[in-house]
Amino acid sequence: MKLNWAERWVVNNPLRVIEQRIQVKKLARMMPLKPGSRCLEIGCGRGAAAKFLLNAFDPGTLYATDLDFDMLKKALGYVPANVMERITLAAVDGHDLPFRDSSMDVVFGFGVLHHIPDWRGALGEVERVLKKDGCFFFEELYPGLYQNCVTRHILAHPGHGRFHSHDLRKELDDLGLSLYWCRELKRIGILGIAVKRGEREINTA
Ligand SMILES: C[S@@+](CC[C@H](N)C(=O)[O-])C[C@H]1O[C@@H](n2cnc3c(N)ncnc32)[C@H](O)[C@@H]1O
Repeated sequence: MKLNWAERWVVNNPLRVIEQRIQVKKLARMMPLKPGSRCLEIGCGRGAAAKFLLNAFDPGTLYATDLDFDMLKKALGYVPANVMERITLAAVDGHDLPFRDSSMDVVFGFGVLHHIPDWRGALGEVERVLKKDGCFFFEELYPGLYQNCVTRHILAHPGHGRFHSHDLRKELDDLGLSLYWCRELKRIGILGIAVKRGEREINTA
């Protein structure tokens, strides 16, 4: 679902860039990757995280994708050309990823799942494209933040079926994505890393 004017203002804001820089550094400290990994970002917005992802994780390939063409146009204006040449920018629906099964080492998703009406389906797509032992680095927000008595009149999100902490954790686990690390404020949101369970772990369970 595309952002309304208020949420565009929130995400296309210098404070958001500072927050993302801190988040990406933290995620890279918690789970560094092998250089040269094949990475996908869903819901990249104007691409503010991409530069930080390149510096922190040194991927071989980074697909930065978003449903909204206007956001991708913004990314072309916002991300410096020397950074953009290391990124493949594409219009992609996070609910229907045009990538093969088990083709990505990493998927990043910052604040995107809660915008997708069938967020479970989108999470299933993340799991599908990840290789075994691949990582999902994510930030998500809960309805207590974006659908409270004030924010629900200002921000636009799918009306029902949004997830709280326990819904997200259960869905990750049901899909075989083990929460490896997280920082969470139960009613507000979560920054986390989930790992697709590998055969080795399944066999020994
Ligand atoms: C809250 S913004 C976050 C943008 C950026 N990741 C950030 O953290 O600043 C959510 C982004 O997800 C995108 N989005 C919404 N629904 C989507 C979908 N089904 N597939 C891919 N992107 C989607 C929106 O266009 C928007 O750019």
